Amino acid sequence: MNHFEYKDGVLHAEGVDLNRLAAEVGTPFYCYSTATLERHYKVFSGSFPKGTLVAFSVKALGNIAVLKTLAKLGAGADVVSGGELRKALKAGIPGGRIVFSGVGKTKAEMTLALEAGIYQFNVESEPELQALSAVATALGKPAPITIRVNPDVDAKTHAKITTGTAETKFGIPWSRARAAYALAAKLPGIKVVGVDVHIGSQIVDLEPFETAFAKVAGLAAQLRADGHVIERLDLGGGLGVPYITNNEPPPDPSAYGAMASRVTRDLGCQIILEPGRLIAANAGILVSRVLYVKQGEARTFAILDAGMNDLIRPAMYDSHHEIVPVNEPKPDCPRRRYDVVGPVCETSDIFAAERELPELAEGELVAILSAGAYGAVMSSAYNARPPAPEVLVKDEQWSVVRPRLDDDALFGSERIPDWL
Ligand code: LLP
Repeated sequence: MNHFEYKDGVLHAEGVDLNRLAAEVGTPFYCYSTATLERHYKVFSGSFPKGTLVAFSVKALGNIAVLKTLAKLGAGADVVSGGELRKALKAGIPGGRIVFSGVGKTKAEMTLALEAGIYQFNVESEPELQALSAVATALGKPAPITIRVNPDVDAKTHAKITTGTAETKFGIPWSRARAAYALAAKLPGIKVVGVDVHIGSQIVDLEPFETAFAKVAGLAAQLRADGHVIERLDLGGGLGVPYITNNEPPPDPSAYGAMASRVTRDLGCQIILEPGRLIAANAGILVSRVLYVKQGEARTFAILDAGMNDLIRPAMYDSHHEIVPVNEPKPDCPRRRYDVVGPVCETSDIFAAERELPELAEGELVAILSAGAYGAVMSSAYNARPPAPEVLVKDEQWSVVRPRLDDDALFGSERIPDWL
């Protein structure tokens, strides 16, 4: 459920008319709904036992105002860089509610995290364990760790967002997991606290999750028998969302929560989760204006002022996003097939191919839905285009929470060398 709805013929974000917002902010822009973010967080966290740490995956939607919205509900954060860690701290999420994932943590990032009192590092390799031991020992601050294990389970999602099979760079191979824990137990400055797994993203079937969680629960019992203290199970993120409104919906968070609790109950561990997309995807839209409607030889192109630099998901993952006009079409409005494209000079700058939509007119506004997760965070300044600004709405209030960059911010830091 989300809070983008037609009211009196105009798409609103909560109580805010998107025509009015576009007139004030200019297009394109991202728009996030506080009520939807809050609802998704509450539904998700309410599906797990008390004491569960729901660490929002900052990579999905890292705007500090959004992080603060979730922090006020008690969310923790899952971060994968020093930058994300600093943003989470700035949003008021305490270090003690932040977990640090990722295969390439630098020693500087480890230092920052230890100084922030990080809840845990999810360690992804033996060399990383050695590096963390050296940093923690030098600082005199023991590093709480889980080892992210690679369970070799196929999440049956897009290949580019599959992370739990043996061919991917993620986690320590299943066959070396116990040896890695034995190494961790011997290293100074390392304190083992649990086990971590994350098998991919936009997963719409509970079965691969259950297979992975059951394997991890079995491993945790084995590790306890080996003498390790295993008090936390970090089960990662990855639960899918409906992108296609008329499609079979993905599993309900409550079914996912019940399954995870059942599979891990005997261990009595604290559960940690790292949802990103589930909280953010349908809490955000990208509002854009139709610049031109161009008749090609074989296709009709609706050319938007948003491009792949603003939302790269369709180009990168062939993802489907609903596109709706901001002004509600009349019931008798004719429908046409469009390739909805952006202005970037790439054939891959396309939001929808041969999509049937209500007839579009030049100058009209459209909203690209389900764009809250992996939208603004993956935007770039390709073609020297300023990435779309971000607006956060709450009831009738709205604020620009990241402005459109002017030329100074966009390329003012570039330098012409003296010798040129
Ligand atoms: N935890 C870890 C360790 C992760 O790698 C990820 C996502 C998450 C949690 C959050 O997963 P979520 O709940 O959002 O599925 N850019 C791609 C998605 C990349 C996901 C990377 N890892 C996309 O736009 O589909």
